[in-house]
Amino acid sequence: MQVVTTVAEMRRLRAQMTGSVGLVPTMGYLHEGHLSLVRRARADNQHLVVTIFVNPTQFGPQEDYQRYPRDPERDLRLLEQEGTDTVFMPGVEEMYPQGFDAWVEVGESLTGRLEGASRPGHLRGVTTVVAKLFNVVQAQRAYFGQKDGQQLAVLRRMVADLNMGVEVVAVPTVREPDGLAMSSRNAYLSPEERRAASVLWRSLCRAREIFDGGERRAEVIRGEMRDVLASEPLARVEYVSVADGETLAELETVDRAALVSLAVRIGGTRLIDNVTVAG
Ligand code: PAJ
Repeated sequence: MQVVTTVAEMRRLRAQMTGSVGLVPTMGYLHEGHLSLVRRARADNQHLVVTIFVNPTQFGPQEDYQRYPRDPERDLRLLEQEGTDTVFMPGVEEMYPQGFDAWVEVGESLTGRLEGASRPGHLRGVTTVVAKLFNVVQAQRAYFGQKDGQQLAVLRRMVADLNMGVEVVAVPTVREPDGLAMSSRNAYLSPEERRAASVLWRSLCRAREIFDGGERRAEVIRGEMRDVLASEPLARVEYVSVADGETLAELETVDRAALVSLAVRIGGTRLIDNVTVAG
């Protein structure tokens, strides 16, 4: 496994690769969710490139960039075990040198809601860094988790609209035994908060249950989700959404593929999760 920290070195290695290249972008502190992307990419491609970069431009000024968990040595051990060929681990100056001033942005209709509404600038930071990684790595396929449902929809829009010749592959969410979606941020939770955090999954299961029972009124589904969340005193709801899976516009009637998503604070930690329903 080769570990490189500069764009020039990454390009040099890329030029030597023949056959398909799979790319898995991450911010590190890897867990089984990340590793399921890595395994899928490993199985699908001749070459596997994983990137580890805690991207400052996708964090708001009051957010957790400084304290975001990092453990590069452990990450490299795990990636080596998974048969990764190349790890690209640039420093901040390498990705954002003095004078950096070009941004890739998807329009408000996709980015002005949900995470985009709660975290201004976040999605612009994501699309910009992912576009840069695409340009550097020149992969045939790139792998992203369904866990970040809006991120996935926004990246698909970027790739389609800017004719980026990369196939975006979505990978299902990996969960803890109690249903909590794996996330690097789960490390912030105290034991009591960790128990409370399972309420996100219970809320999503409730949505799916009444949908499967025939309920199609989105407001009723949102209401049931809120009721489940209200049963957990440590949970503060940021949003609950039942939206068109492609446009992310809130639905009145679930008559098409939908993204059922939520953002909830448990103590000081902001958690997101989603499920899709067929409509
Ligand atoms: P990060 O949060 O490190 O996640 C990296 C990738 O792993 C993303 O595609 C994310 O959706 C996926 N992932 C996270 N938790 C998962 C889980 N429980 N199951 C399946 N997949 C999961 O998302 C980012 O980093 C950044 O925004 C990034 C795309 C790297 C750009 O900086």
